[in-house]
Amino acid sequence: MMKSLKASEKTTLRKLGTSEIAPNMGLKYFEHAAMDRAHHKFTALLGALPLLKKEAFGHVLEQIFQEAKEHFAQEERFMQTTAFDQYAAHKVEHDTLLAELESCKANIAAGESISAVDLQLKMCAWQDSHQQKWDYPLADFLRCRASWHEASA
Ligand SMILES: [Fe+2]
Repeated sequence: MMKSLKASEKTTLRKLGTSEIAPNMGLKYFEHAAMDRAHHKFTALLGALPLLKKEAFGHVLEQIFQEAKEHFAQEERFMQTTAFDQYAAHKVEHDTLLAELESCKANIAAGESISAVDLQLKMCAWQDSHQQKWDYPLADFLRCRASWHEASA
């Protein structure tokens, strides 16, 4: 006859939450195809950072920089075209991140070694906060409200 175990004797399978793997890393859907595609690609590149060999690190960092630059330019075009009122402040956020990535690239080119995990955590935190504060309102505006604007004469 099988004896039942007390709760304290049972082995508990613990599920890792995404925040325990890389805080702030996760896929969000804003129901805006171009923005979702760019955000998910950026997340995938960030996910690869700790897996890279040292020789590949600079190349992937360059790709992250290029993807971010193109994607930011696209969001900025969306904002300018629709006269979205958060354009200036949102662009400052983009420019700040690009400057940070530029300095990271320069450090690597100068022979410094950078912690892939630290960079990943920093970028994931930036992305999470940026998406909530700036990208979500933009996607919401583009999906719903932009089409209700009166055409300017
Ligand atoms: Fe943005």
